[in-house]
Amino acid sequence: MAEEHSSPQVVSRVAELREQLNYHNYRYYVLDDPVISDAEFDRLMAELTRLEEDYGLASPDSPTQRVGAQPLDKFETVLHRQPMLSLENAFSEAEAREFDDRLKRFLRITEEFPYVLEPKMDGCAVELVYENGRLTTGSTRGDGYRGENVTQNLKTIHSIPLSLLTEVAPAPELLEVRGEAYMDLAEFKQLNEARLARGESAFANPRNAAAGSLRQLDPRITAARPLKIYCYGVGEVRGRNFDTQWEVLQTLKQWGLRVNPLIARGRGIDAAIAYHRDLEHRRHGLPYEIDGIVIKVDPLVLQERLGAKSRSPRWSLAYKFAATQATTKVLAIEVNVGRTGAVTPMAVMEPVEVGGVTVSRATLHNEDEVAKKDVRVGDTVLVQRAGDVIPEVVKVILEERPPDAQPFKMPVHCPVCDSLLVRPPGEKVTRCPNPDCVASLTRGIQHFAGKRAMDIDGLGEKIVQQLVEVGLVKEVSDLYRLTEDDLIPLERFAEKSAQNIISAIKASKAVPLWRLINALGIRYVGEATAQVLARHFQTPDALREASKEDLLHVEGVGAQVASSIRDFFQSERHQALIKKLQDNGVRSLPPEPQAASPLAGKTFVFTGGLADLSRGEAKALVAARGGKVTSSVSAKTDYVVAGSDPGSKLAKARELEVTVLNEAEFGELLKRST
Ligand code: IVH
Repeated sequence: MAEEHSSPQVVSRVAELREQLNYHNYRYYVLDDPVISDAEFDRLMAELTRLEEDYGLASPDSPTQRVGAQPLDKFETVLHRQPMLSLENAFSEAEAREFDDRLKRFLRITEEFPYVLEPKMDGCAVELVYENGRLTTGSTRGDGYRGENVTQNLKTIHSIPLSLLTEVAPAPELLEVRGEAYMDLAEFKQLNEARLARGESAFANPRNAAAGSLRQLDPRITAARPLKIYCYGVGEVRGRNFDTQWEVLQTLKQWGLRVNPLIARGRGIDAAIAYHRDLEHRRHGLPYEIDGIVIKVDPLVLQERLGAKSRSPRWSLAYKFAATQATTKVLAIEVNVGRTGAVTPMAVMEPVEVGGVTVSRATLHNEDEVAKKDVRVGDTVLVQRAGDVIPEVVKVILEERPPDAQPFKMPVHCPVCDSLLVRPPGEKVTRCPNPDCVASLTRGIQHFAGKRAMDIDGLGEKIVQQLVEVGLVKEVSDLYRLTEDDLIPLERFAEKSAQNIISAIKASKAVPLWRLINALGIRYVGEATAQVLARHFQTPDALREASKEDLLHVEGVGAQVASSIRDFFQSERHQALIKKLQDNGVRSLPPEPQAASPLAGKTFVFTGGLADLSRGEAKALVAARGGKVTSSVSAKTDYVVAGSDPGSKLAKARELEVTVLNEAEFGELLKRST
């Protein structure tokens, strides 16, 4: 029920809740260091939602307003107050040195420049406008002068603050922040797994996924996409001056904006080159994609003197890593039979270096994709490699097509067992239906033995194929019954290698749960989904017994994935397989035990003021350690924390003989439980 006049208590509670939720959102999404449990956060959010609804107090910058805006018909245009320029690129050390020389000549100086060095995020550039500390507009880069108003989509990104933090630095009157919206690789993979499971097409790379997600007219779709942001600069700012780019970045952090922790400062181009080398090495271990580094002259006075050319500033350079795309020629199109019997067309190509790795095969996904891209033998194609995903053909360079190139036709029979291939109506995937097809059995076993599954060393393709062909292994559980004597008579085996494989198989009997789930090869459950499932269910039995409902509660698991998991565990064949694996001693390792906290399960009541903590923070710290805070003292209360000017609760505590702590003792208790 909406009320005309809300009481001052309600108004101040709403303000307090918003402040707490903004703070906890920042702890969780920006610092990645939450201090309260998810359940506590949800409870605060539910209270705020209820108060705003009951008293008509909703406001656009409330934490309740991240999701839920109505779909748009089209995006409005936003003018950037200062153009969002692009960067000049360098692809070699020589070009980076040329840039540095050019700056020195331009400014007629010889001393080395102080540079800020930043990872170049491979996502989608966005601008956030804060007026008096509140997020008012968010937009895409567009043509650099005008972009699209995607405010309601950007608001769904939790690492974007709706209000700036002002504890350290006051909010300026106007702040245009520039940054890159992006998607982590693991979440990108999980999103693609889910899309394929729904029969939708996969995004080619995280950048396309980020850009596509931001340009959704319905913000609920964007909200479901795992977008993040790193901020790297400012446009127009009123009410605050900066001296250096470094100061800009540090201040953005103080305002609660997310800044990449890999930023660095260095003097001279040699420092930049060393940073480039270092990041190029670390690149594939990062959770997100970067395609180079950005070098920026640090002092803003020098930036101003250097100025800009028409499209890019003179004071900055994007120094790229080795390309992850290259062109090459298609020599043949083969089809590959996978572990589920899925038949995937693959381009066999002239070897080419892509992102530092030589590539000679690329996936063409399925029959429809080949037809859509119209890839033919003899074509010159653009291939790309993203993270550790299989390289894929992006497009054909039509200008270079030989006149006699013929369209690709999917084979009618399995190239391995000659069974008639099937493609059910409405499905994209063509399959070999033969459960004993050597190809799918071999792939299934290889998948099971893979590094990210049971991790059995030494079971390469040739050996597995041999084991399948001679009939020693008909399904994965047979691996655990192999003996050295089975292997020694086979080609390629000596006593030593047989021993090694048998002991590797033995060693694989205990693995972390996610690897066991991944190894089972459940349709639509890849590595990323396996990890989420393991974290959620903790034991194989809990997963096996989970209902569809339970599964739908897991982040990123949709109806199709949930059904596939249910079907897997309900099938008699798989039940028998799991039993055989268990009988042979295969099990998952227990999850890492959570450190016990002395606060876990304890109930606290606060009375009086604390010198070092706000009440909200104190509550958050208790909740984060598994404790609970209530407002009145009872026999169930474990501790009363008494600050300055305690009220009647202290007397009540004494009466009920509840332990009373002063602020210092409370601090000690917290310290012992971190
Ligand atoms: S600074 C005037 N810093 O690269 C300076 N850009 O080609 C403008 N990018 O559209 C950009 N990481 O989206 C800057 N640390 C970083 C960056 C970065 C990624 C993107 C940005 C821009 C493009 C420039």
